Amino acid sequence: MNVQQASDAEVGTQLRRAFSAFPTGVVAVGAVGADGAPIGMAVNSFTSISLDPPLVAISVANTSRTWPQFENAASIGLSVLGHAQESVSRQLSAREGDRFAGIDWQADDDGAVHFPGAALWLSCTVHSLLPGGDHTIVLLEVSEVDYFADVEPLVFHHSRYRTIGE
Ligand SMILES: Cc1cc2nc3c(=O)[nH]c(=O)nc-3n(C[C@H](O)[C@H](O)[C@H](O)COP(=O)(O)O)c2cc1C
Repeated sequence: MNVQQASDAEVGTQLRRAFSAFPTGVVAVGAVGADGAPIGMAVNSFTSISLDPPLVAISVANTSRTWPQFENAASIGLSVLGHAQESVSRQLSAREGDRFAGIDWQADDDGAVHFPGAALWLSCTVHSLLPGGDHTIVLLEVSEVDYFADVEPLVFHHSRYRTIGE
């Protein structure tokens, strides 16, 4: 496909398919919102950026109704989901309904929300926001790390949930 010549709709569909060839983990982003209720969303755009200072990035759609609720959070939790947490990803990406119904989660004193069963927990604050086309690149500074070395991660590839070795 020539990206310059194809229609916008075709480019969107084809690029989504093309980018899905890159296997990723799935990260649950969670925090206690201004009204005291938990907020969360699933992302696979997570990447590590810098060791000093400790920075990671996610990119969020500019149309997201959920991300703006995180912007005033004192602390944001990131959970690299474990192999048994496909249902957490499905629920945290649902457009309707209670994303936290029936899910095991916990908040720390600063309001970062994490999901037991994950391979890694990070607690972060927003460092900066960078323009990224129809997404915004969110740089997050890491303040706390909890690493669960025995948990195999969940993998997202070609729009399917998989596990390592599957
Ligand atoms: C595996 C997976 C990865 C996703 N990754 C991202 C992402 O990196 N950035 C993003 O903005 N939305 C991502 N989403 C979509 C969000 O989880 C969620 O569906 C979306 O935020 C819902 O819209 P809302 O923000 O308006 O509530 C992903 C969804 C899934 C299932």
